[in-house]
Amino acid sequence: MTITRAHIRQKLGELPRFRLSHLNTPLEPLDRLRQTLIDEGVSVPNRMLVKRDDTTGLAFGGNKGRHFEFEIANILEGGYDTVININHYHSNQARFIAAGCAKAGLKYHIVSLDMVTAPLTGNLLLCKLMGAEIHRTPAEYGREVAEKIFAQVTAQGGKPYILPDDPFVEIMGTIGFLETGLELEQQLETAEVEGAVRFWGLTGRSIAGLRFYAKNRGLDWRATAVQYSPGNVEDFLEVTASRTGQVAEMFDLEIGLDETDLTVLEDYRGPAYGVPDDRTIEAILMVGKAEGLILDPNYTGKSMSGLIGELRAGRIDPDETICFIHSGGLPQLFAHVDRFVD
Ligand SMILES: Cc1ncc(COP(=O)(O)O)c(C=O)c1O
Repeated sequence: MTITRAHIRQKLGELPRFRLSHLNTPLEPLDRLRQTLIDEGVSVPNRMLVKRDDTTGLAFGGNKGRHFEFEIANILEGGYDTVININHYHSNQARFIAAGCAKAGLKYHIVSLDMVTAPLTGNLLLCKLMGAEIHRTPAEYGREVAEKIFAQVTAQGGKPYILPDDPFVEIMGTIGFLETGLELEQQLETAEVEGAVRFWGLTGRSIAGLRFYAKNRGLDWRATAVQYSPGNVEDFLEVTASRTGQVAEMFDLEIGLDETDLTVLEDYRGPAYGVPDDRTIEAILMVGKAEGLILDPNYTGKSMSGLIGELRAGRIDPDETICFIHSGGLPQLFAHVDRFVD
């Protein structure tokens, strides 16, 4: 039996929510990118689309605008007044929590790991503009710094919350992307897309949420997740199965994901997290020129380099419609200016 849209909508509606995003985000064609590839002699599917989750609005937008609507509400329900986060210099998540905390009137500390002398730009700069207190430290001291802040806030009578310690953080992105599933099903119907659709994104909660939606709705939606940093594929698939299993229980859905549900590509992640390879830079320039669409070097540029690479290699079924998930991440482009200077 297929789960109805009304059921998913109702379950989403039962969760506490703090609005951060302009939804729905648009679904647009990538016709000029498609034509550029055809001009190269590449065989491409009839339709290539992009889901513009970079346009969620707040703080330059991105997929995490969806995820953190549920998390900020969860924090407020818990009666906390201060959020302590630990994440990397390049973190988009750090920016969204800064935005959510500012909007909700919560104090925010970001313990920013590694790259401690790198310029204050991109996401970290935006965190500062949104009132965050920034603590830059090598990764090995991150936990210690966070605990010190926790103790100080508690001593001053505050109620602090260490974000990475909350298991809800693990699943809220998948929950947020169940709603993206509802949007996309409607948008694909309106666009009269028929046959199989392949969603193209990055290893994480978002693409998993879409595939999970499709599996429960009985839709022929396939999903490719491009890695953006070193990581074991089996571990990702295992974590994804566990997260979707938890959400299936919460939402009274029939099935979570298993290891066969997502295709994971390891070949486009570049030398390290936050370090793009030449194919990523080429993909960013190509999409910018063809579509006026901006991608970033840490996430969506890597995902797009995977799509272009797999199309060029003839490894994509031409009968599928491609739907590229633009998950945002744009501010960090400015931390990579040197890669674009001739
Ligand atoms: C811009 C962007 N896209 C995609 C991802 C992949 O992970 P998720 O889907 O869990 O957000 C991230 C993770 O930080 C991200 O910042």
